[in-house]
Amino acid sequence: MNSSSTVLVTGGAGYIGSQAALDLKRAGYKPVIIDDLSRGNKQLVDALDVPFHQGSIGDENFVSDVISKYKPSAVMHFAAFTYVGESVKEPQIYYHNNVLATLGLLRSVVNAGIKRFIFSSTAATYGLPEQNPITEEAVQKPINPYGLSKFFVEKSLADFDHAFGLKSVIFRYFNASGADRSGLIGELHDPETHLIPLALDAAYQKTAMKVFGNDYATPDGTCIRDYVHVADISQAHLLGLQWLEQGNLSESFNIGTGKGNSVLEVLDGVESITGMEVKREFVDRRAGDPPSLVASNEKLTSMLSWKAEYTDLVDIISTAWNWFQKTNN
Ligand code: UFG
Repeated sequence: MNSSSTVLVTGGAGYIGSQAALDLKRAGYKPVIIDDLSRGNKQLVDALDVPFHQGSIGDENFVSDVISKYKPSAVMHFAAFTYVGESVKEPQIYYHNNVLATLGLLRSVVNAGIKRFIFSSTAATYGLPEQNPITEEAVQKPINPYGLSKFFVEKSLADFDHAFGLKSVIFRYFNASGADRSGLIGELHDPETHLIPLALDAAYQKTAMKVFGNDYATPDGTCIRDYVHVADISQAHLLGLQWLEQGNLSESFNIGTGKGNSVLEVLDGVESITGMEVKREFVDRRAGDPPSLVASNEKLTSMLSWKAEYTDLVDIISTAWNWFQKTNN
């Protein structure tokens, strides 16, 4: 296979995929996006001005045609369904899209002789971790179909490396948040289920924000998560790509700041950035939510020299607020 600077970005119309495509372009690569737009947003692709083909990752003829046309030397695979709660209610669409379709993509990738693959995995593969911060060596025991679907692909990638020499970097994201500083792209989920955009909306619309459970064994009773800026996630992908370009072996890394914040701390942060009150309505726990997920990022910092630009929750929320104001005006 050639070593072109073209990178196939699946799910490039999504929140994290579009950020990666933008940063690949900024770094001099040529991203080519495929996305079926079932969850992605055309508005994000249009803002990027890069080649885009609409179709499914599981459609092997479609994917092979795009690969033959652009001859990418690597694939960054973001296309997936990503809602923990939805995956509990509708497991079949998670196994179909995240597992079955990804196996179709992998077949197209291997048939084309591509040897570099970067995979979006998740902290949800750790399930209920025995300790926080979570290192990459922690036992992976997902407690919801979303986490299990990603775990299955992680394991498949090890087999594809062994059988076909497909080298991969697996990134387990903690809670992606914030928006690109330029205001060009950001989070545009439909429906939106994530805490920060929902809290910004609640502040703006003066509606009550539902807090899912305040009886967890955490300092304020609400769940703790590691909120990591989407541009810092994207930078890790560039470093992961360079890692493979340098001929290194397959690896897995967590991406998180190493710091946890509770739901109530996020709501306080939203109030301080917007200057608006966020009314709170305490409701039952949401199915599939672990009490606390905080990353150890030591492996990422030491092996890939990654350094988070955004280490403060309030800074992260302020970039999300900029984007929110832009999309609501
Ligand atoms: N939450 C609320 N009210 C809401 C929405 C969320 O209280 O209206 C709480 C959740 O219960 C959770 C926290 O806010 O405790 C964060 O919830 P999100 O839905 O924003 O994010 P998740 O932690 O559920 O999931 C995210 C990604 C997953 C990824 C996971 C890893 O969506 O893909 O982070 O930590 F697996």
